Amino acid sequence: VKRRTVTTLRKMKQEQEKIVMLTAYDASFGRVLDEQGVDVILIGDSLGMVIQGHPTTIPVTVEDMIYHTRTVAAVAQTALVLADLPFMSYTSPEMALRNSARLMQESHAHMVKLEGGAPQVATVKQLTHHGVPVCAHLGLQPQSVHKLGGYRVQGREAAVAQQMQADALALQEAGADMILLECVPETLAAAITQAVEVPVIGIGAGRACDGQVLVLHDMLGITPRAPRFSQSFMQEGRTIPQAIRAYVEAVKGGSFPADAQCLV
Ligand code: KIV
Ligand code: NA
Repeated sequence: VKRRTVTTLRKMKQEQEKIVMLTAYDASFGRVLDEQGVDVILIGDSLGMVIQGHPTTIPVTVEDMIYHTRTVAAVAQTALVLADLPFMSYTSPEMALRNSARLMQESHAHMVKLEGGAPQVATVKQLTHHGVPVCAHLGLQPQSVHKLGGYRVQGREAAVAQQMQADALALQEAGADMILLECVPETLAAAITQAVEVPVIGIGAGRACDGQVLVLHDMLGITPRAPRFSQSFMQEGRTIPQAIRAYVEAVKGGSFPADAQCLV
């Protein structure tokens, strides 16, 4: 299998082949994910919670992201390597460019992800202008948890839903290669997925998205209070590689997410 690229991912959307994304933070898991057919490995700033033990992603630094992304990129053969820009590392287009360059040059990321809608349009344009592929993360934005007052569903109100869809279109227009939706009602995620040409990956965003992502530790069943939209795949005496494979097949075959993991 050849390396997944922005081109192959867009083709997968067109051909309605579901895109499988999963997080990893080190070489050992990165290798297993790559071998089991995960299309995109996300080095998420969720590492602040699952690796570092913090209650939020806010303490994660660019140095942390560079270290963990490098360990995964060193072993990923076919997956596209996507790295999060952490909290306060993209407060201007120039700063975003500088930190993205580090993730690509020092850690060999293929794409970066940032949280935010319309306010990030200038930054996405700047990254695009300089050849940095970007994924824009909409809906629940965990880096803003203290501003939001908790982790909760986003886009239930008509005005917020409308704004989210407008933001997705604006980000695509600015050059974003992928949209990620976290914790949004299934109907809104479906509308956004239909409205944009770039792949839309969902987490707690229902079945209509072009792909799905989970936090590795949640789907391995070792997170103390995993979110309702996640699922453990470590059933029936599966090994870890078998659980990863089961997740890949469940996303590709459309059995994950099921009704119980979808939000309204
Ligand atoms: O950091 C992360 O793992 C993420 C996913 C939850 C999408 O951003
Ligand atoms: Na993240």
